[in-house]
Amino acid sequence: MSVVVIGSANLDLVYEVERIPAPGETVLSRGSASFPGGKGNNQAIAAARAGADTKFIVALGRDAAGDRLAGQARNAEITLLDRRVDAPTGTAVIFVDRKGENSIVVNSGANAELVDLTDDELAEIRAADVLVLQLETPLPTVTAAMHAARAADTVVVLNAAPSGSFPVELLSQVDVLIVNEHEAAELAGEPAGTGERSLMSVLTAHGCDVVITLGSEGAFVGGHGTVPVKVPAFPVDVKDTTGAGDVFVGAFAATLDRNTDMERSLVEATEFATAASALAVQRRGAGPSIPTGTEVHKFLASQ
Ligand code: RIB
Repeated sequence: MSVVVIGSANLDLVYEVERIPAPGETVLSRGSASFPGGKGNNQAIAAARAGADTKFIVALGRDAAGDRLAGQARNAEITLLDRRVDAPTGTAVIFVDRKGENSIVVNSGANAELVDLTDDELAEIRAADVLVLQLETPLPTVTAAMHAARAADTVVVLNAAPSGSFPVELLSQVDVLIVNEHEAAELAGEPAGTGERSLMSVLTAHGCDVVITLGSEGAFVGGHGTVPVKVPAFPVDVKDTTGAGDVFVGAFAATLDRNTDMERSLVEATEFATAASALAVQRRGAGPSIPTGTEVHKFLASQ
């Protein structure tokens, strides 16, 4: 399976706190550390560790953080199609509370400079089985990549995160949309708390298959004109949910089999991705928590 990921790479500065501070409040951290992160980077590492031949198109600064992220991506056996730009490498400040829930602020930095794709990068997209996109990259780049992929029969997997910037009519250019409940409601133009069945029917009406991740409840998988299926989560002790959604997306893309019945393939890829996320939430940090395919298979066999 060959996967091209286009997206962000950030250096995550993670603070462990008893609880996330309210506006105007100061809290003391129990400890802090920096990890490789960024939704695109996490998804590329997850796809590579799950066994896919993975290429990652990314913009990094000419700085120590850029060198560190590039080195870590190469260690994960990703083919890095990186450009160095005149902006600092992206960073994220992350608070993780005692329940493992997080709050994240991203400074896009170099990621905002990924404003076009070279002919070589477009050729890589056309040659790949799957293209993975998220929304920490400028929308014109996301859109151009989608159109190139669709014209070449490359499967487009869009993780519409963070929410708020994607025109819903562009879902017609997406093969598989992966969103959490909050992102699904926002994209569907429905109020928070709308049930996943209603969200599923609004989103699949645009012609794409949809996976709505439900945290500890698992995931809901549906396609245009098919009956949605619930894939249960694995009960595990949660230490840190940072990047768990990205692990899901990367592992999903790596296992999606376009040469078989799509409905079955969607459910099987979701089961594998759910297991990969279950392993990730038991470890700290985004990058370091990402499991290998062998670990995921072992975990599934033990269940
Ligand atoms: O999804 C988690 C990621 O979001 C973090 O690694 C952070 O960098 C932000 O991009």
